[in-house]
Amino acid sequence: MSENIILRPAELQDVHNIHLLLHEYARQGVLLNRSEEDITHYLANFTVAADENSGLLGCMAVRDFGNDLLEVRSLAIRPDLRKSGIGRKLIAKAIERLNNDRQTYRLFALTLQPGFFERLGFEVVEKELFPEKIWADCVHCPKRERCDEIAVIYHGTPA
Ligand SMILES: CC(C)(COP(=O)(O)OP(=O)(O)OC[C@H]1O[C@@H](n2cnc3c(N)ncnc32)[C@H](O)[C@@H]1OP(=O)(O)O)[C@@H](O)C(=O)NCCC(=O)NCCS
Repeated sequence: MSENIILRPAELQDVHNIHLLLHEYARQGVLLNRSEEDITHYLANFTVAADENSGLLGCMAVRDFGNDLLEVRSLAIRPDLRKSGIGRKLIAKAIERLNNDRQTYRLFALTLQPGFFERLGFEVVEKELFPEKIWADCVHCPKRERCDEIAVIYHGTPA
């Protein structure tokens, strides 16, 4: 991995690699699988971490539910590059953009890695706090009857 990590909006040429990365973690039951069609449809939500040598290093999507409630989803770092600061950079980018765009917001995630999010200023909350529509995705999840994900939230109040 080069020193020069670029965070940029995802492009059509990234779709296949995003799919492969998410599929690898979906296979392990860590993330929800997403088809290339689904990724393409929601491409505008995705940011990728890349460098000039090795292509895709990680990805993240932010979904807007309206009412200043947003979700971090499909956050994944290439397995061999975990714990090298790329996840932190992607979340910091999401927060920077939201701080520029909004007066106040709530950014949440459903995750098996709450410790990572807590390091970045999120707090653990009850999943039941979120409106029902957020669970629309759960019908596609093989673990829907035995959900083990933890909800974390970041309260953005830019100065
Ligand atoms: C979870 C994940 C996104 C974290 O990204 P990463 O690039 O490995 O994390 P970073 O190196 O940026 O870590 C930032 C900080 O969080 C800590 N951290 C990372 N993963 C952690 C974990 N699972 N538990 C507790 N702390 C963690 C790091 O040690 C670092 O701490 P520091 O402040 O002392 O430096 C990545 O490991 C991943 O892709 N996991 C598999 C998919 C997944 O679970 N995605 C989240 C779904 S919402």
